[in-house]
Order: sequence, then structure tokens, then C-alpha cells
Amino acid sequence: MSKKAKNQVGTTGHVWDGDLEELNNPLPRWWLWIFYATIVFAIGYTILYPAWPLPGGETPGLLHKSTRADVAAEIARFKAMNAEIEAKLASADLTTIKDDPELYSYALQSGAATFATYCSQCHGSGAAGAKGYPNLLDNDWLWGGTIEDVAYTIRHGVRNNDDEDARYSQMPAFGKDEILSEEEIDQVVNYVRSLSGLPDVDPALAEAGATVFADNCAACHGEDGKGDRAQGAPNLTDAIWLYGSDFDTIKHNVENGPFGVMPAWGMNPNFDDARINAVAAYVHSLGGGE
Ligand code: HEC
Ligand code: HEC
Repeated sequence: MSKKAKNQVGTTGHVWDGDLEELNNPLPRWWLWIFYATIVFAIGYTILYPAWPLPGGETPGLLHKSTRADVAAEIARFKAMNAEIEAKLASADLTTIKDDPELYSYALQSGAATFATYCSQCHGSGAAGAKGYPNLLDNDWLWGGTIEDVAYTIRHGVRNNDDEDARYSQMPAFGKDEILSEEEIDQVVNYVRSLSGLPDVDPALAEAGATVFADNCAACHGEDGKGDRAQGAPNLTDAIWLYGSDFDTIKHNVENGPFGVMPAWGMNPNFDDARINAVAAYVHSLGGGE
């Protein structure tokens, strides 16, 4: 180190390795001023804005600023802005909602947002469904695909304990409750698979299964296996399966009786009539609406 620097500022007295000394340079001016400025700013801030936590809540600050209140005010402003169209939507006749383009487009947008928040975890973000959760894009409906059917299903749900008006039906557990023998179950599973032309069906078992089906299944799934919407009994003759079409899945369903549950959104405090109508219009618009 140069002798000159050492003479000018002195050292702190720290020495390493015998001759490596630490100079006592002052802090740069610019640095020091910024440092003081931050202190002044911090004091000013805690006086003006909510800052110090106290037992009864934080100090409010002279400006009485609250971002939470700002958000509440913004939400209230939007609610007020939409109040008129929301009221219209709440009392809209769903069958003619398309005739009012402004209302319909508002309903679709608001319904899409509701769907993303409340429905996608079960039905998928694109509404294509998953095992046990129906695809809402196709024109295969368990309970009906008119906009009013869809709205009813959404409002009351399916097989839930919350709403007495929920859509309800229960397929018996033919195996668990010993209504059918193991052999009869094998027969009817083969018959069900034959209905939609699935491969590897044993023709003799399927033929015997036709009788088992007529006696035990036709009351709900129809003589021809095409299903019954009044009971939410799926069509067993098409390529669309709620739970799956492989031998094991069909057998499991016949043995245990599937029991799909959908919440009653009308009982949910976050859902008013406008919201139910909006999401019904959205689901109905997805492609499969009747
Ligand atoms: C917890 C999972 C779950 C959530 C969340 C859910 N659903 Fe469902 N939904 C189901 C199940 C399961 C079924 C099928 C019930 C059955 O087996 O009959 C169903 C059925 C439906 C049906 C009837 C389909 C048909 O083929 O008739 C519609 C329409 C529907 N849901 C719309 C919605 C909408 C809209 C939302 C959001 C507001 C929603 N669902 C949220 C589980 C859910
Ligand atoms: C009381 C009415 C009822 C009877 C009787 C009944 N089912 Fe069902 N079945 C249903 C309902 C309702 C569903 C849909 C359950 C759900 O959505 O969770 C269903 C679902 C199924 C499924 C699942 C279909 C899929 O898409 O994954 C199969 C397979 C099936 N039934 C076969 C049978 C067979 C075979 C019999 C006769 C041995 C039978 N059912 C008798 C009402 C019935």
C-alpha cells in the first residue's frame, strides 16, 4: 500500500500477515447521503402510512391509506357498474337469452370465469372431463343437454346430501349385494361390451348376458341399452364412457354400482341466480348444448 494513502487517512490498526493493514477511509459522501435519506424516508413513511403493529391493530398513519379498502371500493364500483346487467341475467329466460347479444356475451364471459374457478378441478379446464367426471363438450348428456336441463343440474347437483331437489338415482351394487352371481356378472359384462361393438367379447356369454340385462338393467339403461336421462343412466351403446369400457371397469361398476356426486351450486353462498345462469349458458355453448 502506498505510504501517501496511509498518511492521509490513517489505519484502523488491523494488521494481517505482518504488513497488510486496513486503511480507515471515510465512507463516500454520496453513499452517506443516500443512507441518511433512507432514514428520513422511513420515518416519514411510518408517520404517513400504516406501520407499527400494536396490540389493538397497527398505527393507521396520517393518510389513513388502506389497500384493502381500495380493493373493496374497486369491487363495489364494478358491482355497481354491472348491477343492471346482473339483474337482467338473474331473471333472464335461458331459452331466449341468445336473442339479447349483449346479455349473452356478458353471460358467456362471466360463465367462463366461474367455470375456471369452480368447475375445472373436476371437469377439466377445457371441460373435457375425466374418469367419473363427464365431458361437457360433447353432445352426450347424462341428465339432459338443453340449457334449462344444464342449469338445473348445476343449481341442484347430482346425488348430494345438500339439496333435496338434487338429481338422484342409484344403480344397485349387483355383486356386493349378491343380486347377481359371478357368472351372471361375467355374462352381462360381455353383453354390455357387445352393445358398442367392443372387441374380445365371448359370444356365448354375451348371449346369456342379454337375458340378465333385460331382467336387471333395462329398467334404467333401456331395453336397447341407450340409457335414460330421467335417471341419469348412461347410454351403453356408444363410444362414450363415464368410467371406462374395459372388462375390469365395467365389471367393477356392475359389482359396486357407481355413484357420481356433483355439488349443488345453488346452495353455495358464492352463487346467485345470475352466476348460475351465466355458467349454464357457458356450458351450453361449449358445443354439446341441445
Ligand atoms: C367435485 C367435482 C365436481 C365439481 C367441482 C363440478 N362438478 Fe359437475 N359433475 C360432477 C360429476 C361427478 C358429475 C356426474 C354426475 C353423475 O354421475 O351423474 C357432474 C355432472 C355435471 C353436469 C351434467 C352432465 C350431463 O352429462 O348431464 C353438468 C352440466 C355439470 N356437472 C356442470 C358443472 C358446473 C357448471 C360446475 C361448476 C359450477 C361443476 N359441474 C362442478 C362433478 C363435479
Ligand atoms: C336403478 C337404475 C340402474 C340399474 C337397474 C342399472 N344401472 Fe347401470 N347405471 C345407472 C346409473 C344412474 C349409472 C351412472 C352412475 C353415475 O353416474 O355415477 C349407471 C352406470 C353404469 C355403467 C357405467 C357406464 C359408463 O359410462 O362408464 C355401466 C357399465 C352400467 N351402469 C351397467 C349396468 C348393468 C350391466 C346393469 C344391470 C346388471 C345396470 N347397469 C343396472 C343406473 C342403473
